[in-house]
Amino acid sequence: MEKIIIFDTTLRDGEQAPGAALNKSEKLEIALGLAHLGVDVIEAGFPVSSKGDFDAVCAVAKKVKGPIICGLARAINKDIDAAYQAVKFSHRPRIHVFLATSKIHMKYKLQKAEDEILRLAVASVKYAKKYCRDIEFSPEDASRSESEFLFKVVEAVIDAGATTLNLPDTVGYAEPEEFSRLIASVKENVPNIGKAIISVHCHNDLGLAVANSLEAVKRGARQVECTINGIGERAGNASLEEIVMALDTRKDIFANLNTGIKKNEIYKTSRLVSKLTGFVIAPNKAIVGSNAFRHEAGIHQDGVIKERSTYEIIKPQDVGFYGLGLVLGKHSGRHAFNERLKSLGFHLTKKQLDKAFLRFKQLADKKKNIFDDDLMTIVEDEIRIIKPLWKLISFQVNSGTQVEPKASVRLKAKLKSFEGLSSGDGPVDACFKAIDKITGARGELLDYRLEAVTRGKDAIGEVNLRVKFKNRIFSGRGSSTDIIEASILAYLNSVNKYAL
Ligand code: KIV
Ligand code: ZN
Repeated sequence: MEKIIIFDTTLRDGEQAPGAALNKSEKLEIALGLAHLGVDVIEAGFPVSSKGDFDAVCAVAKKVKGPIICGLARAINKDIDAAYQAVKFSHRPRIHVFLATSKIHMKYKLQKAEDEILRLAVASVKYAKKYCRDIEFSPEDASRSESEFLFKVVEAVIDAGATTLNLPDTVGYAEPEEFSRLIASVKENVPNIGKAIISVHCHNDLGLAVANSLEAVKRGARQVECTINGIGERAGNASLEEIVMALDTRKDIFANLNTGIKKNEIYKTSRLVSKLTGFVIAPNKAIVGSNAFRHEAGIHQDGVIKERSTYEIIKPQDVGFYGLGLVLGKHSGRHAFNERLKSLGFHLTKKQLDKAFLRFKQLADKKKNIFDDDLMTIVEDEIRIIKPLWKLISFQVNSGTQVEPKASVRLKAKLKSFEGLSSGDGPVDACFKAIDKITGARGELLDYRLEAVTRGKDAIGEVNLRVKFKNRIFSGRGSSTDIIEASILAYLNSVNKYAL
């Protein structure tokens, strides 16, 4: 068996998706989830880009054991210094240097000639090599680079010490057959290519990121760069769950290849990333969308009942999806609750379990049937690492057809309680304005989405929103059987991120 190295860049390229900004504790939480999932490399950020990113990469490097922790750097010494200063806390640090090699990037973006690019590429790899053994080099926009020049750069950086050679389809322009030829031509024309692992990094602008990555694997790429739920710049990156499940499901084509991913952790990790980034997963998203395993047409349902494989190529449980699974109710005890959580992949500390169980009991008083998704929502809320500055104590709203909506919200911060009163265009707007009065953070609501977590009139409502404070956008999420409360919690979540 040969291993396909799964390089996860959710925390770097994924976080570059507009509006996906994650704070340090959220990044750490996702990184711990990725380590648990079994990824081989975590690209934790771009340390020189901001102090926040630098601190987050340091935190991941210090706390996350198992995977290689990688930091991105341009071919500039100060970037490489910052990347190393951040990843050096890991037992397995990697520096990832990138420099564009396509004519279009060299001319317009970098304004540098080929010779200068070649010199910088080599110098930067040599400089990074002084810090650590594990160096990845990416000729950015490789798929639109002139072949001869690309081969020259690749050969030179491998001679300079690059151990992984990543070929990015930076703008998602490549087509599978063409991308496959690119990998083959690099193998044929770069004499020392055997000294480095070939990696690919595909973007999804034409919806071909996964197809291109798989073609590359067929041609000998042994590292695939991807993100959870395919999030990333513009249309995103190749999605980790699709790559992993394609390799696994089509063993007939990808014989003798495997990944170290624990497949039954996929669904949980996907939810975690969705919740912390605020990026809702499309229902029809392959592998992790809510419809991915749902059979609606009568003929399909009948087929699946007779023989699952008629319409199902993956067992939902294999990726950790157990459907609605009615499991617990008002009379369920702590033991049953904990056992169910364990089977869903959550192993809580005693303190976390106490909090989650209390919340479960409160929910069970309001809601007769509690489904797995309800449980996951409770736990995901209760085991957050972030300590919020502002907490909701209570609220009251008055609204109706002939009255002006008014809200009174009471919040707590550092043991003091504060009350805000406001009217608004609706009860939610009135609550948000009341919160603004207390916190002084004037948020501009950009996006608001309300979804029922499970079915039934008593279902938990989950609100995902995006708010602009000054010039930064923060996502927020909150859940409750009361949709006004869910909205307040979501808004407070974004205020707390801003406050951090
Ligand atoms: O898309 C890209 O080219 C990148 C590089 C930094 C690898 O993200
Ligand atoms: Zn990228």
